[in-house]
Amino acid sequence: MLQPGQIHQGSGARRVTMEEVNPTNKGKKLAHPASFAPRIFADTADLDEIKPLMEGGIINGVTTNPSLMKRAGATSWDGAMKMMKEIVKYMAPYPVSLELTELTPEKMIKQAKVLAGIGPNVVVKVPTGGYQAIDKNLDPFTGLKVINALWRNDIKVNATLIFNTTQAFWAANAGASYVSPFLGRLADYMYKHDHVEREPGNSLNFLEDHKAPAGGPERTANSAYVASGGARRDSGVRLINEIVSVFNNYRIKTEVLAASFRNAVQLSECLLAGADILTVPASLLMGVADHPLTNEGMVAFVEDSKVFEK
Ligand code: G3P
Repeated sequence: MLQPGQIHQGSGARRVTMEEVNPTNKGKKLAHPASFAPRIFADTADLDEIKPLMEGGIINGVTTNPSLMKRAGATSWDGAMKMMKEIVKYMAPYPVSLELTELTPEKMIKQAKVLAGIGPNVVVKVPTGGYQAIDKNLDPFTGLKVINALWRNDIKVNATLIFNTTQAFWAANAGASYVSPFLGRLADYMYKHDHVEREPGNSLNFLEDHKAPAGGPERTANSAYVASGGARRDSGVRLINEIVSVFNNYRIKTEVLAASFRNAVQLSECLLAGADILTVPASLLMGVADHPLTNEGMVAFVEDSKVFEK
């Protein structure tokens, strides 16, 4: 697990430059003790999962993507639009990220305007890169161009599918309000592919293990660069800490939205690492108040308190 001593000390200072999540109302004597807490979003498109989390005061935002929409039952664009509208309306005024499905700048900007028109709390999710993996004729800078165009149009963007610090930096530089590093997928990948006898993170060293892609070694080095200096299971959360540190260095206000959680340990690690927002699957959020020893303790307290019953 990432140790507190390994955390960039500036992340606390960064938090107090961000918007207050729990502001104290005027006239209250008791100030809210967690005014600069990170925001917690639910990573789901299922309203039945979202509602109890909102009612419990656990979340103040939602993130969706095409896979989550499909999992929640959308089988067409019309169905997806209906689903997105319902979530946006229910969550208002809290932010809801809705992802673009078009792949060329003109169509993406048009679609972004439609999504942003659903409500003022919509954040448009734009894949940062990967366009040439779909079609080698697509512009590799499609995502960055769209992010910049949307910023110019006053539309908030969540730059998604981020796996290294450079992607996060360029997305912020293009004007993204949020960046979404997928820490769980990164940790999964490294755990599966790293050669244990080598330095952690070696599976991303494409120069050594794979044929260098077109573009030459410089490009390879850039794509391989990722925070991975520690144990393989830490690689995802190290990425969060690295992005937070870079944003802190340059007073970048883009919020670091840690995504793709697998377990509660990663939640704690992201809090240590200074993430601004954690977007978490509903199944993980439902368990945040519990612990096996808490359960055991409760059973004992309730049992002993029976002697006070009249
Ligand atoms: O918000 C991004 C997230 O949905 C990705 O999660 O579990 O598909 O890696 P996962």
